[in-house]
Amino acid sequence: MQRKWVQLAQLLLSRGTAGWDRGKGGTMAGFNVRSVLVTGANRGIGLGLAKQFLGKSNPPEWVFATCRDPEGARAQELKTLASRHPNLVIVALEVTDPASIKAAAARVEQHLKGSGLNLLINNAGIVRLNTLESETPEDMSLVYATNVTGPLLVSQVRAPTEGTSPAALGFDFA
Ligand SMILES: NC(=O)c1ccc[n+]([C@@H]2O[C@H](COP(=O)([O-])OP(=O)(O)OC[C@H]3O[C@@H](n4cnc5c(N)ncnc54)[C@H](OP(=O)(O)O)[C@@H]3O)[C@@H](O)[C@H]2O)c1
Repeated sequence: MQRKWVQLAQLLLSRGTAGWDRGKGGTMAGFNVRSVLVTGANRGIGLGLAKQFLGKSNPPEWVFATCRDPEGARAQELKTLASRHPNLVIVALEVTDPASIKAAAARVEQHLKGSGLNLLINNAGIVRLNTLESETPEDMSLVYATNVTGPLLVSQVRAPTEGTSPAALGFDFA
C-alpha cells in the first residue's frame, strides 16, 4: 500500500498538467487499482488523471470521475470520454455539501457492491489569489470549505468501506 502511494506521489510530482493533457502513456503501467475515484475530474489535473487511468493497458474496473454539474457544458469532455469507456462513471459531487457527498457515495456503492474503493484522489480544489488588502472572510471560508473540510468529509464517507478493500489508499491535492 505504501509503495503505491509513493509511486503515485512520484508520478504526480514528476510531471506538470501539460504532460497529463498530452496523454503520454506508460508511466502508470505499474500502478494497478481495481477502483479509483477522482474528485473535480471534469477539467485540469483531475481530468488528466481520469484519462491516464482509462488509458492504461490494465485499466481499473471502475473509474469514478466526479464533477459538480454532470449535465453542464464543463462536463462535456468527461461525457465524451464516458461514451468510449464503459468503466468510467460520472458522479455528481459538490465537496462542500454533505448531502451531495452522501448521494455520491451511494451512487459509487451501487457499482462497487461492498467491494470497497481502492483509491480516492481528493483533487477538487480552488485557489483565490488575493492580497492582504483584497482578502475577504468569505473567500477564506470558501477555500477552507473546499480544500480542507471537503476532502475530510469525502474521506470519512469512504472510510467504512476500507476494511473490505485490499488496497485502500487516499491522496489529497488541495
Ligand atoms: N495546477 C497547479 O499548479 C496546482 C498546484 C498546487 C495544487 N493544485 C491543486 O490541485 C488540484 C487540481 O488543480 P487544477 O489546476 O487541475 O485545478 P482546476 O483546473 O481549477 O480544477 C479544479 C477542479 O476542482 C473542481 N472543484 C472546485 N471546487 C469544487 C467543489 N466545491 N466541489 C467539487 N468540485 C470542485 C472544479 O470543478 P468546476 O469545473 O465545477 O469548477 C474542477 O473540476 C486543486 O486542488 C489545486 O488546488 C494545483
